[in-house]
Amino acid sequence: MSAIFLRRNSVMNFVFFVILALSALRSGDADGCTSPYDNGPYTVEKLYLNLPIAQSVRFLWIVVPTAEGKFPVVQFQHGFQVRNTCYNQLISHVASYGFIVIAPQMDSGLSFNATHEIRDAIDVLKWIQANIECALSVRGPEIKPDLSKLALVGHSRGGKVVFSMGIQLNGTIPISAIIGLDPVDGDRQGIQTNPPVLTFKENTVNLTVPTLIVGTRRGSKNWPLFPPCAPEDVNHNEFYKDLIEPVYHFVVGKEYGHMDFLDDAVCKLRSFECMGTVGSRARMSRFAGGVVAAFLQATVGNNPCYFNYALTNYTSAPVSLEVPEQKGELPHNHNLQVPLKDE
Ligand SMILES: *[C@@H]1O[C@H](CO)[C@@H](O)[C@H](O)[C@H]1NC(C)=O
Ligand SMILES: *[C@@H]1O[C@H](CO)[C@@H](O)[C@H](O)[C@H]1NC(C)=O
Ligand SMILES: *[C@@H]1O[C@H](CO)[C@@H](O)[C@H](O)[C@H]1NC(C)=O
Ligand SMILES: *[C@@H]1O[C@H](CO)[C@@H](O)[C@H](O)[C@H]1NC(C)=O
Repeated sequence: MSAIFLRRNSVMNFVFFVILALSALRSGDADGCTSPYDNGPYTVEKLYLNLPIAQSVRFLWIVVPTAEGKFPVVQFQHGFQVRNTCYNQLISHVASYGFIVIAPQMDSGLSFNATHEIRDAIDVLKWIQANIECALSVRGPEIKPDLSKLALVGHSRGGKVVFSMGIQLNGTIPISAIIGLDPVDGDRQGIQTNPPVLTFKENTVNLTVPTLIVGTRRGSKNWPLFPPCAPEDVNHNEFYKDLIEPVYHFVVGKEYGHMDFLDDAVCKLRSFECMGTVGSRARMSRFAGGVVAAFLQATVGNNPCYFNYALTNYTSAPVSLEVPEQKGELPHNHNLQVPLKDE
């Protein structure tokens, strides 16, 4: 009897030891995750396409990993009157983590009404679903889109556009993640870009999709004579408040502003009116590209390692960050592993 008990005990000890060893291995994996602010494992290449979509010919700027594989698809919506190609650094950084990023050029126009822009962006998404595989095959048959994993990212007014897309689609096209980079919903409460997203009531905007909000403190500040580019009332803070969990909030504490998500070079001219850095924006686009890639890895990629790094090690980001906030947790039921090179 006692011999059996001993034996059984040592079997249990062995099992316990194996579980311990496995969990040590697992946490070793998580600890071994590299910084998302370094470039990802893929080199990337760019495609420039002009295509008829709905009633217009639209310029799509696409960045893909240079590798054989099936990759989740990210639609990127630019800010008000900004060129899609002005986000080269940010978008290339995201694509290097194994994502096909598609940035349509929206119609420039001064309209305060975003109704058309949202409709056009939804048309682009529908076009992507139906045609992107074929469009990419002209470049080579080995890069395939995984259309079961779609994510939306938008900057400034584009941030408002992607949340509106989520609201209007209401699950008719399944979206796995939505990210707003310094999203803006208009001028102030009551004077919102149509159709409004914000309700000014906590936990009321239910997208049933994991969301990330990245904000800048300088976005709500202004140079003399210019209004702020991301006014306090209708900026990232209110998006974070109104959205229903799971939602994460990263805020860039100082130095950088609303337009510092763009590249340096030509794009620098397009943002003199927004308060931001007077130096290079490289650190900001590396931060933004990194946190977006990390969140996408955690949501569509089933790999929380990079995002845990971003949350835990927020003091070692390339820009100074406030303590990240969150409501709820990311769901753990995503089932697709983004194939990373070294796995
Ligand atoms: C915005 O534009 C849409 C489409 O043209 C129109 O139906 C709507 O009435 C406009 N809204 C406002 C407040 O101007
Ligand atoms: C969204 O879809 C659900 C069913 O999936 C429906 O009950 C709800 O009314 C829809 N909401 C809107 C605003 O259309
Ligand atoms: C959000 O919407 C989903 C789907 O319609 C629903 O299941 C869920 O209960 C809603 N969440 C809240 C907090 O209202
Ligand atoms: C935080 O950074 C350190 C140093 O780079 C790293 O060893 C650690 O694993 C990181 N933490 C997380 C949760 O990734």
